[in-house]
Amino acid sequence: MAYVKALACKECGQEYEAKALHVCEFCFGPLEVSYDYEAISKVISRESIANGPPNIWRYKDLLPVFGNDFVSLGAGFTPLVRAERLGNALGLDELWIKNDTLNPTGSFKDRVVSVALTRARELGLKIAACASTGNLANSVAAHAAWANMDSYVFIPANLEKAKVITTSVYGGNLIAIDGNYDDVNRLCAEIASEEPDWAFVNVNVRTYYAEGSKTLAFEVAEQLGWQVPDHVVVPIASGSQLTKIHKGFKELYKVGLLDHEAKVRISGAQAFGCSPVATAFEKGLDVIRPVKPDTIAKSLAIGNPADGYYALEVIRNSGGSCGSVTDEEVLAGIRLLASTEGIFAETAGGVTIATLAKLVREGVINKNEKTVAFITGNGLKTVEALEPTSGPTTTISPSLDEFFEFLHKKRSE
Ligand SMILES: Cc1ncc(COP(=O)(O)O)c(C=O)c1O
Ligand SMILES: [Zn+2]
Repeated sequence: MAYVKALACKECGQEYEAKALHVCEFCFGPLEVSYDYEAISKVISRESIANGPPNIWRYKDLLPVFGNDFVSLGAGFTPLVRAERLGNALGLDELWIKNDTLNPTGSFKDRVVSVALTRARELGLKIAACASTGNLANSVAAHAAWANMDSYVFIPANLEKAKVITTSVYGGNLIAIDGNYDDVNRLCAEIASEEPDWAFVNVNVRTYYAEGSKTLAFEVAEQLGWQVPDHVVVPIASGSQLTKIHKGFKELYKVGLLDHEAKVRISGAQAFGCSPVATAFEKGLDVIRPVKPDTIAKSLAIGNPADGYYALEVIRNSGGSCGSVTDEEVLAGIRLLASTEGIFAETAGGVTIATLAKLVREGVINKNEKTVAFITGNGLKTVEALEPTSGPTTTISPSLDEFFEFLHKKRSE
């Protein structure tokens, strides 16, 4: 049973049948899935969810699919860990890390891809495709392989080596484009209009894809004992994930899973070399000015973010903030998270931790706010970023004398 009412235009409200559509024919606004919350509240409960599978499909009543034939590698229900050591280092009383590095292909994109390809298959679409900054590429190739779908994955040619290798291993077609993500995305929009039978997860089935990120909010609330945090920090590329985390918290209250309607402050994190949303926030602007990305955080390098405007709106209305950090701060953020909590994040995680630290320093996040930082991708995919400053503490021959020489020197430092 599905509780999807329609796809509704976010700008003019025009409603459409739940097909492979993503823009309004009248005003070109983006479409959003709307649900029959009254019907959902009659069937959903904390118990029904607890009895579901340990992955995103435990929330299927709040996801835009009609059957139970899921394209799933088991994404979701990742650990929410109490980060006491990192909290102490930053000066926060109650910090939690949502560790999405532990998804099947190492990023939160497995959530959105699982939803997008499940719906695509329901709609009879047989080819999976995407425009990607890296993590989506891994995830689409892996899920398409599992679902026995052909895939066409488009990436900027300068992506990290690990992201290229861990996409091509699944088979399918990996097409590198000489250009940045915004060039890749433009090309994919053109191809999608020529090939209406392809499921471009973040183009023509984007409306469904985006809903997958709501599960981050659902899980955090469930893992906190059906409570919402005071403040969350979310990395921004297109801005989709941030807007859907907001929608997810709202929906939990609408369907009766939360006792109180509590406000969650939502803050965004960007790399300084690609910070169109943070810049608009800081300058108090309503329009997002596209930029040419120049940062080591390649997964977040979207200069013209599709949902940037809506992300800005959520940040402002929720009482959050949006900050940006330099590449040096990104690397320091990766090291701080690893050395305090034992979690190795990719550059996007470094952006999140460094921005979190900055917002605490600036007094935007209060010491006593229950705060969740979303760590969305695995560090093994972006080792290049750390390479110039990483290596063994020392290299010695297999000799006890040499080792003790090293140890004495170290102890006298
Ligand atoms: C690891 C990681 N985190 C966060 C994001 C941001 O996602 P969104 O485009 O929904 O803002 C991305 C996007 O590619 C990503 O790869
Ligand atoms: Zn419209």
